[in-house]
Parts: sequence; C-alpha cells; structure tokens
Amino acid sequence: MSDEVPRIGVAGWPVLHSRSPMIHGFWLEKYGIAGSYGLLPIPPDDARHFFANLPVSGANVTIPYKETAFRCVDETDEQARRLGAVNTIYIRDGKTIGTNTDGYGFLAHLKATAPEWRSASGPVVLLGAGGATRAIIGALLDDGVSEIRIANRTLRRAEELENAFGERVSAHAWDQRAEILKDATLLVNTTSLGMKGNPPLDISLAQMSKGSVVYDIVYNPLETELLRQAHSLGLVSVDGLGMLLHQAVPGFELWFGHRPEVTEELRDLVVASLVEG
Ligand SMILES: NC(=O)c1ccc[n+]([C@@H]2O[C@H](COP(=O)([O-])OP(=O)(O)OC[C@H]3O[C@@H](n4cnc5c(N)ncnc54)[C@H](OP(=O)(O)O)[C@@H]3O)[C@@H](O)[C@H]2O)c1
Repeated sequence: MSDEVPRIGVAGWPVLHSRSPMIHGFWLEKYGIAGSYGLLPIPPDDARHFFANLPVSGANVTIPYKETAFRCVDETDEQARRLGAVNTIYIRDGKTIGTNTDGYGFLAHLKATAPEWRSASGPVVLLGAGGATRAIIGALLDDGVSEIRIANRTLRRAEELENAFGERVSAHAWDQRAEILKDATLLVNTTSLGMKGNPPLDISLAQMSKGSVVYDIVYNPLETELLRQAHSLGLVSVDGLGMLLHQAVPGFELWFGHRPEVTEELRDLVVASLVEG
C-alpha cells in the first residue's frame, strides 16, 4: 500500500441509499484510522472509463456496475471470476484487483447467527436466481453443502445456475417451492419479495422441522413476513442485515490494513438508519 491516506468509496447509480459509508465510517473512527469512504455516483456513460482508470484508492461496487467493474479492472480473483461480478476493488503493485465478498458475508453471518447449522446436515433450498444467488451458491458449495435446490419464478434462470454449478445444484419450478422444503435444513430467500414496496414471499414453512434455519437476505424491513412465520414455528431465523455488514469486512481490511469487527453497536447504527428510511 502507498503512503497516501486511502480514499475509498462506493460506486453505483443511484448510490445515495447505500449504507456502506456509514459502515466504513464507523470503523475508521472506531479504530482511529486515517482515510475516507464516500459516495461515488457514476452516470452510466462514465462507468467504463471510471473503472478502467480508477481515480480512488479502492472501491465497493453496487448496482448496476458489478459486471462492468468485472470487465474493466486489471485483474480478478477466483471469487469474482466464478460470479462474473466484482463488488470490491483494491490496488496492489499499481494494478486494480476485483474480488467479490458477498458469499463471504452471507456465510459469516449464517455461522455467527446459527452456529448449530452445519453444511453437512442436509439439503438447502434457495428461492430466486438473481445476482445475489450466485454468490450464495458458491459460498455454500465451498462450505460442503451436498445438495442445493433452487426454485425461481423464471425456471430458465434456475436451470442456468444448475448448469453453471454442477450436479449438487438442481432447478425447480416456482410452484414447487413449498414441496422441495421437505427435509431441508436451510431455506434462503434471495428474491426481492418481502422487500419494502414489494409483495411478501408467499410460502408455507410447515414442512420444515424444528431447528431448521430460515435466512432472508432482504434487510429492509429487518423482520420480513417470512422471518415472522419462521419465528412463530420455532425455526431459527437469520435476517439480511448481517450479510451486508459482514461483506464489508474483507474490503476494509484490504484497504486500511485492519480487520474490523461486526458489533451490536454497528448493527444498531444501521438499523436506526433503516427505521428513519
Ligand atoms: N443482505 C445483503 O447484503 C444483500 C445483498 C444483495 C442483495 N440483497 C437483497 O436481495 C434481493 C435480491 O437482490 P438481487 O440483486 O439478487 O436482485 P435481482 O438480480 O434483481 O433478482 C431478483 C430475484 O427476485 C425474483 N423475483 C422478483 N420479483 C418476483 C416475484 N414477484 N415473484 C417471484 N420472484 C420474484 C426474480 O425472479 P425472476 O428471475 O423470475 O425475475 C429474481 O430471482 C434484494 O431485495 C436485495 O436488496 C441483500
């Protein structure tokens, strides 16, 4: 790393809603580290030039530029290549390197919140086949899950994931989403259903047995109807906010050289901002 104070930011369009400046700003202050983390609103016509000539010391990348960044950085690591998407850029030896920390964030939060859950304990059901789903499949397979069943409204997109990730992954029609829950030990909602402004996810969790885990990566609202149902049935529920907080950890360490901690204090700060809207 150079002697200059790192200037980092989150690049997207629009990007105003991003909680990343709050998260990294909290850590910079807590650890007394010199550096900054701001918003980088990049209009679509400027995106390729921005990522090919990065004018900052590092960046997070959000919608709609994760694929553009993947194509424009000098190098990518294995995580980014597997997903074809970059959410974190850092610089080493004058080169921009793109990685992806979404899968790490997903798994770190799962293990912190549901420590009894084991990848070997049984099949996993994923609902959705969008951008976030790929990172989650990669993390679960790396952790040793032997069977992942994916149901998506557009079956073709689930089948694409089945083809991309191999025999441990199977695609299912959306109307089979409750049936495939039988003997599953983990259900993950990776659709945008349940998010503020969207309809709730319509599914009965009655087939899931006690001790099974329901993880909703939607974090606004924090307690979705899916998690309320899980709670009422005595299932273990995991909300989406922790994934957002944990995915920020590797980036902070790469840019500022200190591994930060996800604490209740940080979580409370971000929860308060979600409540304010
Ligand atoms: N906690 C975190 O850190 C984190 C990280 C990333 C994303 N997220 C959240 O995860 C959600 C998905 O994000 P994404 O980037 O993966 O989105 P995306 O690429 O747009 O994918 C959206 C998914 O939702 C499905 N869907 C949308 N409307 C539906 C409906 N009415 N009925 C059934 N399925 C529907 C889509 O199905 P089709 O394929 O049929 O369109 C697709 O599978 C968002 O709420 C986002 O905020 C959270």
